[in-house]
Amino acid sequence: MEKKEQLYEGKAKKVYATENPELYIVSYKDDATAFNGLKKGTIAGKGVINNKMSNLLMQKLEKSGIPTHYVEELNDRETVVKKVSIVPLEVIIRNIAAGSFSKRYGVEEGVVFDEPTFEVSYKNDDLGDPLMNESHAIAMKLATKEEIETIKKYSLKINEELKAFWKECGVILVDFKLEFGKLSDGTIVLADEISPDTCRLWDSETKEKLDKDRFRRDMGGVEDAYAEIMKRLTDNI
Ligand code: TMP
Ligand code: ASP
Repeated sequence: MEKKEQLYEGKAKKVYATENPELYIVSYKDDATAFNGLKKGTIAGKGVINNKMSNLLMQKLEKSGIPTHYVEELNDRETVVKKVSIVPLEVIIRNIAAGSFSKRYGVEEGVVFDEPTFEVSYKNDDLGDPLMNESHAIAMKLATKEEIETIKKYSLKINEELKAFWKECGVILVDFKLEFGKLSDGTIVLADEISPDTCRLWDSETKEKLDKDRFRRDMGGVEDAYAEIMKRLTDNI
């Protein structure tokens, strides 16, 4: 499979066409941004880790019945995925208060929820990805009621699977962001990536942050944290 023209460049990945109109190639970059692109930097080796981690986790989720865009890893940074049209919603599942939840509601980081929360934001950089409720998403025709129900069901199942897996790795899954896409026949599949860029992952014992918050918050040790979380994953998968 070979890359043809570049279709899109996002903040962390590029997307290319292939000779097969139903398949794309994604290429993971080391570029890192935060706060809607206001903060920019690079995390050396991140693209390689995110590519591999996302692929391993998506293959694991496929086995537990979650359809994903994953097709085949080509090399360190590139993966063949199914062509989807992205549902313009960022889905966030939270098990523990952190980040924007803590800020918005004045809840201390680390408060454990009895049940996971499900939230959606409108995926629109110009508007800063505003939080919305499901009726807003339906009113704006970003997805149908049925599609949102499917997305919610998959997201909560993904949370259960990933929470249990990361626990085996000595890691707490605090929260994460998912994006879903639609195949040409309308089937909803998990798309984008699952990586330390898109999840908050804390060491179970020390609560040390092993994710992109180290970059967002200028904590240092970013590359080491990505390498450590990747090691935990490959030792346990
Ligand atoms: P938040 O607390 O800033 O809303 O982030 C919740 C989760 O979503 C966290 O694991 C980081 C992830 N996330 C992204 O993947 N992309 C984004 O643009 C943002 C804001 C958060
Ligand atoms: N990558 C996102 C951005 O640049 C934000 C984040 O992950 O915090 O907006």
